[in-house]
Amino acid sequence: MKIFLVGGARPNFMKIAPLYRELKKKSDLIETKIIHTGQHYDYSMSKVFFEQLGLAEPDYYLNVGSASHATQTANIMMAVEKVFEQDKPDWLFVVGDVNSTIACSLTAVKMGIKVAHVEAGLRSFDMDMPEEINRILTDRISSLLLCSEPSGIKNLRAEGYDMGKIFLVGNTMIDTVAFHLADIKKNDFYKTLDLKANSYACLTLHRPSNVDNADSLLNFYNILDYAAKESEIVFPAHPRTVKNIEKFGLKEKFDSIKNLKIIEPIGYFEFMNLVINSKFIMTDSGGIQEETTFLGIPCITLRENTERPITCDNGTNKVVGTDFNKVVSAIKWTEVFSRSYYIAPLIWDGYAAERITEIIVNY
Ligand code: UD1
Repeated sequence: MKIFLVGGARPNFMKIAPLYRELKKKSDLIETKIIHTGQHYDYSMSKVFFEQLGLAEPDYYLNVGSASHATQTANIMMAVEKVFEQDKPDWLFVVGDVNSTIACSLTAVKMGIKVAHVEAGLRSFDMDMPEEINRILTDRISSLLLCSEPSGIKNLRAEGYDMGKIFLVGNTMIDTVAFHLADIKKNDFYKTLDLKANSYACLTLHRPSNVDNADSLLNFYNILDYAAKESEIVFPAHPRTVKNIEKFGLKEKFDSIKNLKIIEPIGYFEFMNLVINSKFIMTDSGGIQEETTFLGIPCITLRENTERPITCDNGTNKVVGTDFNKVVSAIKWTEVFSRSYYIAPLIWDGYAAERITEIIVNY
C-alpha cells in the first residue's frame, strides 16, 4: 500500500510528523512519502520544523508559494496532479484545514485516490473563515474521517455522514508535544529573551479577520498597551501580521509599547518552550488552543468562536473575541487560574498516530 502525507503550512508539519514515524514502522506493508506544497516556504515557517521534528525531506516539493486563495489552491492542484500522474498513491492523508488540505484532497479524489482526513469534523460554524470552507469540503470527499475530539463525531453525524468511516483517534498535534516534551522543556528559549518563568504572556495573531484591517490592528494595539502594563508580552509575529502592521502605518505604535517584545517566527521547540513557561497565552490560532489544553496553561482565544470546544469544556480556554473589556476580564481570570486542577482530555494521550496506522492497516 502506498500512502502520501501532505504538509503545506506551518501547523501541518507537527501533525504529519508522528504519522510519518508510525507509518514508517510498517514499511514492510506500507510505502510512505511526503508531499510539501510550499504554501509556507520561509525557513522559520517550514524547514525548521522538518529539522526539529526529525521529518524526512519531502519526496515532492511543489513550491507554490503565496497567492490569493484561488490562485494558490489552483497552483497546488495543478502541481500535485503531475505528481499523482507519475506516482499514484492508494491513499492521501491530509491534515487540518489549510488551502493545501483541500487542494490536494480534491485533486486526489478525482483521480481515484482515497483521502483520509486527519482532524475531521471540527466546525466553527463560521463560513467567513477560509478554514471552515476547507474543512467542510475536505470531509465531504474523504473516505476516512479521523476525529481529534468528540465534537468532530457529533458534527459529522449531524451532517449525515456514514458512521462507518468515522473514527475518534485523538490528536496528532498533541502526539508531537508529548513525544518532544523533554526537548521542549530543556530548550530554555524564554531565558534568552530575559523572561522569567510564569511571569509573562505569549501572543500569536494571524487570522485575516484580526490582522487584515487597520481598525482591528488598532484595537489590538489598545489591548496590548493595557495588557503589557500588567505583565511582559512576547509576540512571535506571523509574516502576514508583520506586513499588515507596516502597511497600515502602525509599526511605530506597536514598537512603542514597553514590555511588548515582537520577535520573528521561531522554531517548534523555541515556541513551545515559550508557551510552557508562560503565565498565559493570547492567540487566534486553533492548534495553540489545543496545546495549552494539553499542558494546562490558560489560553485567551481572540476569536468569536472555536472549532475545538473540548478546549473550553476542559476549562483551560476562554474564547472571548476581541472586545477590549472581555479580553481584560479574561486576563484577570488567568490570575486566579490554578494549573493543578486541569488534566488533558483522555483521548489526547500521545497515541493518535498509532491508532490511525492501525486503522489503515486493518482497512
Ligand atoms: C495559513 C492558513 C491558516 C493557518 C496558517 C498558519 C489557509 C487558508 N490559511 O494562513 O489556516 O492557520 O497558515 O500559519 O490555508 N508568508 C511568508 N512566508 C511564508 C508563508 C507566508 O512571508 O513562509 C506571508 C506571505 O505574505 C503570505 C502571507 O504570509 O501572503 C499569508 O500566508 P498564507 O499561507 O496565504 O496564509 P496564512 O495567513 O499563513
